[in-house]
Amino acid sequence: MARVFITGSSDGLGLMSAQLLIEQGHEVVLHGRNPDRTREARKRAPGAQNAVSGDLSTIAGTKSVAEAVNELGRFDAVIHNAGIGYREPRRVETEPGIPSVFAVNVLAPYMLTALIERPHRLVYLSSGMHHGVRPQMDDLLWTRRRWNGAAAYAESKLCDVLLAFAVARRWKNVLSNALEPGWVPTKMGGPSAPDDLHLAHVTQSWLATSVDKLARSTDEYFYHQRLREPNPIARDPEVQDELLAGCEDLSAILFPD
Ligand SMILES: NC(=O)c1ccc[n+]([C@@H]2O[C@H](COP(=O)([O-])OP(=O)(O)OC[C@H]3O[C@@H](n4cnc5c(N)ncnc54)[C@H](OP(=O)(O)O)[C@@H]3O)[C@@H](O)[C@H]2O)c1
Repeated sequence: MARVFITGSSDGLGLMSAQLLIEQGHEVVLHGRNPDRTREARKRAPGAQNAVSGDLSTIAGTKSVAEAVNELGRFDAVIHNAGIGYREPRRVETEPGIPSVFAVNVLAPYMLTALIERPHRLVYLSSGMHHGVRPQMDDLLWTRRRWNGAAAYAESKLCDVLLAFAVARRWKNVLSNALEPGWVPTKMGGPSAPDDLHLAHVTQSWLATSVDKLARSTDEYFYHQRLREPNPIARDPEVQDELLAGCEDLSAILFPD
């Protein structure tokens, strides 16, 4: 039995992962963006041990989530699942200078990784869309370019792989991996998404808890419980460090050694 914290578990793949892990006998702590969404999560995953609330689009909200999680003691695994829009029509700032897509998809997992007591395993949700982009480290926040929601999302998901691999490289006592769940019909994926919804949440749950040798990998990228080659840029330690430095500056939270 493992203790697992899952961000964004009021809906979609986070909720499905919570339900699967509870069914398998694990201790799950849920997370919703506000008390209403957290109540909804608890209703839909009634076997969860506990739940925390907090808006991951703001620095204060993300810090409050980390504090609430730490009050519950150490976890075996944290699944960084919460994410937003692959087609945000406009660049909306949720912190001065920081667009919502970057705040929720990149800065929040960075901050939670740095602030939550170090678990044994960390899992980061990326996307197949990350393969097609290059990181724009001089314009992570889309202040110089004309907004493109799909590209901003794809870049944020490349950052998630960079983050997973940066953690794997720096924290040798933690298993840290990223994955793509497939394009599936959740609220985010939309009703005509073609991939199999029933497989989409399995890999994150497996990476968080399974004793299988492959699930105990680190520094790897997965699709449907199999290794997949990530965008090769994600393996570049200089780019990984640039991302960590950017997140340190934005959040004023140092990445712990
Ligand atoms: N679905 C796909 O086809 C697909 C493909 C590739 C990758 N992914 C990735 O898979 C992960 C899960 O996506 P999904 O399809 O399950 O999406 P979803 O159904 O839209 O669920 C996203 C979850 O994140 C939460 N969330 C969003 N913004 C938040 C915020 N500001 N603060 C706290 N929680 C917030 C949502 O809360 P609410 O319920 O309150 O909105 C929800 O629980 C994401 O990281 C996504 O990028 C999905």
